[in-house]
Amino acid sequence: MDFPDTLAAPLEVPPSAFDTAQMNFLLTGLVIPRVIGWISTISAAGVPNLAPYSFFTVASTEPPHLLYSAASATKDSVVNARETGQFVANIADQALVDALVASSAAVAPSVDEFQYAGLRSAPSARVRPPRVAMAKAHLECEVRQFVSVGSSTLVIGEIVHIHVDPAIWAGGRVQPNLLNPVARLGGSSYATLADVFSRPGPTINERG
Ligand SMILES: Cc1cc2nc3c(=O)[nH]c(=O)nc-3n(C[C@H](O)[C@H](O)[C@H](O)COP(=O)(O)O)c2cc1C
Repeated sequence: MDFPDTLAAPLEVPPSAFDTAQMNFLLTGLVIPRVIGWISTISAAGVPNLAPYSFFTVASTEPPHLLYSAASATKDSVVNARETGQFVANIADQALVDALVASSAAVAPSVDEFQYAGLRSAPSARVRPPRVAMAKAHLECEVRQFVSVGSSTLVIGEIVHIHVDPAIWAGGRVQPNLLNPVARLGGSSYATLADVFSRPGPTINERG
């Protein structure tokens, strides 16, 4: 079905009503905002690669793991992760959004996407893929698992080293507004943090 301009009644349909592009459009418009993992990898031949993934999250904290989901197993970020077993999740702030979008271009695997996006790299501490020098936080990972979900591939990595720039740290923690991350919405829309508010959690714990 084609998406109507307006809805006269709630949309009530099974996923089979949509083709892949429509489903992507609907899901990425509903599940927002999505934090972006700006994933750097390196090929076995030593070519650095960089690409944004908004299907990205913390997967565990003990031990700490991250994951990103690639719509195709042929993407360089998956191929390189298979070849060399490592990646870095760089956290992009608003000032880096143009370079972040540039790094999503489907260029040949032989192209160094740091150079392509006009970005300086910095060596990592524990893994071979370099970091985005201008990013304010970097999570270095060793790949632990590849999981197929539908036509996508989840790349799950254990965090082995963390970098946090002093510029985003105050009052004993990362300050959200100093980190100033960009998040992906649907289509080509992005968002930054608006009002940050606090709601302490419940104090009841009857489960020991
Ligand atoms: C902000 C943003 C987020 C993206 N998120 C994803 C994602 O979660 N999964 C995916 O497969 N592609 C995503 N893409 C598209 C990839 O970045 C793009 O296909 C890129 O060329 C993959 O590069 P690679 O082959 O170097 O891994 C995103 C693009 C942008 C601009």
